[in-house]
Amino acid sequence: MHLSLSHHLFFTSIPSTHKSTTKTPISCNVLLNPLKKSLPSPAPPFSPTKFSPEYVPPPSLGPIQKLAAAALDMVENSILIKLEKNKNLNPMIDPAVQLQGNYAPVQEVPVQTGLEVTGTIPRSIRGVYLRNGGNTLFPPTGGHHFFDGDGMIHAVTLKGGESASYACRFTKTNRLLAEASLGKPFFPKPIGELQGRLGLARLGLFYARTAIGLADSGGGMGVANVALTYFNGRLLAMSEDDLPYAVRIRPDGDLETTGRYDFDGQLRNSMIAHPKVDPATGDLYSLSYNVISQPHLKFLKFDKNGKMTREVGISLQQPTMIHDFAMTQSHVVIPDHQMVFKLSEMIQGGLPVVHDPDKVSRFGVMSKIANHESMIQWIDVPDCFCFHIWNAWEEVDDHGHRVIVVINSCLTPMESLYFSDSNNPLKAELSEVRLNLDTGRSTRRVIVSGINLEGGQVDKHHLGKRTRYVYLAIAEPWPKCSGIAKVDLDTGDVAKYLYGSRKFGGEVCFVPNEDEDEDEEEGFLMSFLRDEEREKSELVILKASTMTQVASVKIPSRVPYGFHGTFISAQELAKQSLF
Ligand SMILES: [Fe+2]
Repeated sequence: MHLSLSHHLFFTSIPSTHKSTTKTPISCNVLLNPLKKSLPSPAPPFSPTKFSPEYVPPPSLGPIQKLAAAALDMVENSILIKLEKNKNLNPMIDPAVQLQGNYAPVQEVPVQTGLEVTGTIPRSIRGVYLRNGGNTLFPPTGGHHFFDGDGMIHAVTLKGGESASYACRFTKTNRLLAEASLGKPFFPKPIGELQGRLGLARLGLFYARTAIGLADSGGGMGVANVALTYFNGRLLAMSEDDLPYAVRIRPDGDLETTGRYDFDGQLRNSMIAHPKVDPATGDLYSLSYNVISQPHLKFLKFDKNGKMTREVGISLQQPTMIHDFAMTQSHVVIPDHQMVFKLSEMIQGGLPVVHDPDKVSRFGVMSKIANHESMIQWIDVPDCFCFHIWNAWEEVDDHGHRVIVVINSCLTPMESLYFSDSNNPLKAELSEVRLNLDTGRSTRRVIVSGINLEGGQVDKHHLGKRTRYVYLAIAEPWPKCSGIAKVDLDTGDVAKYLYGSRKFGGEVCFVPNEDEDEDEEEGFLMSFLRDEEREKSELVILKASTMTQVASVKIPSRVPYGFHGTFISAQELAKQSLF
């Protein structure tokens, strides 16, 4: 089993009962860990999503298999589930907390056309906006974290003018299909269930079921719910605990999972969910980490045609959760921070991912053409802890020194990552980290203080080059997102667009104006928005240069809060692989 369950780990301020290194690591992706205090409404009941029987036929079992399956069901129902129900669940894994309000899952929605549009969708916006998220298929029987949910993609197709359609579909992962086939959840939930002895029992039960042929763990256990990347004509749905899944966008805007994608047999291990497509070359850069054995990290490069051209093993001292990295024109920048894997913690009742206060955060700078880990220059950045990096580039400073500039959101103070402290709340500070390659020293400067900024992007055409603007979600009240911020990195000025009372969005997606791709202001910003008071969902579209809304597309059904998304232009979509 891949234990890279950090895939979107992120801390919140839920009190921990464990010792100092066993804090309460939770969710990743940006901001969206539902906390009890921010979700006062009760959890609505929901039913499992219905799949058509011909799509997921039940497994064909022999008499002995049926007997063994029944025995395991009995063990689960009469012992394990009862013990889990008696467990006093931390809010971070309590389904009543994690799946309430707009965090509750929804059913699949086939293509809905002719959506109501307020304002005018700019004619230059032609393509598909897609956003990933967790959407559990079955009601949990025990602990569940929102990030344990099965991957679901929400897609809005925009064809200019007022033409807009919407669909949402599960990504048909190996685990989703296996569970749908049996009509029950049985793959272990990495955050919600893999804690303590009950977590080990869950794991044991799962492997007993695979041993009798109820599922194939070798086919992958990931949920593909974190992020989306369009590369070499394929939309890839990813979580860092598995290989990507390829999803085809049909001409009518519907989505169809074509399968687990191993880059034609070249990718053997899981890959992080934030690979980078080089805008200059079309090459894909990524990382893969291994919790069990060295090298704990690998750097991967695929050329624009999908051929793996580089794999560099990186021997970290400890297996480390690395959610994101950065790319400049000539280098990659790899964070090696304090969140590490300690499987022994799991046996003691905690999660296997912990904060190690004795480790010094650092960044590794490596040439894109390096072929050995000895070519990495590691530079300590002691006061920096981040999950996401928005951009990075190369500069020469006034002393003639080579400097790598990294723009990220540092989470601080570290103490508030672990303990609830209303007097010292967690902050997501947009920061500039400067890595001096000649002196080996670093600095960190807070660009914007007093406001939590996370979940954003720069113009993807400028990734790796100096950018003046970064567009981010205003992550307040944490972890919800109440608006969009456009930050001028030259001046520190912040232009805000606030959604309004009880309206919350998510990650900001920047859609470049393909006719104006040299100007990083000439584009549009998108985010799904939930009006919690009126119980309506929409896609809001802003003009980036003025930060004014130009259109809103009414979504005919609820869109839960989710994780990362992307926009694929019609020109890019025309080159979609036929699979
Ligand atoms: Fe992320």
